[in-house]
Amino acid sequence: MGVAVEVSGLTKSFGSQNIWSDVTLTLPPGEISVLLGPSGTGKSVFLKSLVGLLKPEKGSIVISDTDIVTCGEHKLYEIRKLFGVLFQDGALFGSMNLFDNIAFPLREHTTKSESEVKSIVLEKMDMVGLQGAEGKLPGEISGGMRKRAGLARALVLDPEIILFDEPDSGLDPVRVAYLNQLIVDLNAQIDATFLIVTHDIGTARTVPDNLGLLFRRNLVMFGPREQLLTSQEPVVRQFLNGRREGPIGMSEEKDVAQVEAEIAALEARGGDSHNGVGPKGASGGEAVPPQLTPTEGLPERRGERRRQERVARMLHEFDETTQAAIRKSLPEHLLAQSDAGAFQPTRGAGGRHWAPEPDATPMGSTATAVLPRQDGEG
Ligand SMILES: Nc1ncnc2c1ncn2[C@@H]1O[C@H](COP(=O)(O)OP(=O)(O)O)[C@@H](O)[C@H]1O
Ligand SMILES: [Mg+2]
Repeated sequence: MGVAVEVSGLTKSFGSQNIWSDVTLTLPPGEISVLLGPSGTGKSVFLKSLVGLLKPEKGSIVISDTDIVTCGEHKLYEIRKLFGVLFQDGALFGSMNLFDNIAFPLREHTTKSESEVKSIVLEKMDMVGLQGAEGKLPGEISGGMRKRAGLARALVLDPEIILFDEPDSGLDPVRVAYLNQLIVDLNAQIDATFLIVTHDIGTARTVPDNLGLLFRRNLVMFGPREQLLTSQEPVVRQFLNGRREGPIGMSEEKDVAQVEAEIAALEARGGDSHNGVGPKGASGGEAVPPQLTPTEGLPERRGERRRQERVARMLHEFDETTQAAIRKSLPEHLLAQSDAGAFQPTRGAGGRHWAPEPDATPMGSTATAVLPRQDGEG
């Protein structure tokens, strides 16, 4: 099972330019989280901070009991091995064929024999649907295939945490749909902790267990995807609906009076247009579509099971609309336990401060592993 990443009070600046402040969130082990945010809000800077390529000035990032913000070089090197990263452009070497690109981390970081390297590379290429493309150069294949190759390379060292920086950028909607399914399938197969930075609202609505939004140098929200998808926060609704009216401006933030006037005019026109990508409002029922499930024949997602118990414990922290949406993803017995007050209150607020607590086993239940499979009819 993947490892948790516990970020608290994280602040990053370049010189006098503050990128974001006081970012606090926990990526639960083996779950899929998505981070949204307008361009330039520091999403890539956040990912680079998580792998220790950039050093935040304040706060901590705790992974396997090590704070990578303050630990020494040697420790950081060890922790980095837990990560697989899919950079925005795939970051492949243009002069190397796909096999050599994907084999690169194995040849650099391990002492595996060439025959072991070959079997691992072919296995990972198979996992991402690239069988037979070993000899191709990055320049000879489509953008979607380059992303898959980058992903295969991120997988070769068997990472516990995978970071995806805009994996869908530059892909057509059909390729994005295939990629999203691949991400869910991979998660089911390897049970690693996933963090995906994206602009794609469809991805944000159907792929993750947890969803967050960076805006105005702050993490506006982070928690179960139902929380953000049912949120009435103006900035959240503007982003999810992809509309001009709201706090997010063309190149900078708008002033309050302008935003209020725009929202009033929008409401007068009948509210958000139902363009099929944004939430259709609190009463629309479609604000939280069903989550993608692994392809038939693959194992179930263990992260999803763990998440069911985790969010059942947190239910009381959310408003009614969010609770109703979360309840749809929970099996009967957990709902019953939650309603009977069987869970100790969690210590966080709104999911963001959720942290693994060894003493947090609900009464009458022993392990997440005994939970029955929730059937993906809805
Ligand atoms: N190494 C760096 N040095 C100075 N400024 C940087 C560096 N990397 C990123 N930035 C700045 O940080 C801000 C956020 O960048 P980025 O994380 O790439 O945004 P996003 O990925 O959300 O589009 C931008 O203003 C960018 O210019
Ligand atoms: Mg970026």
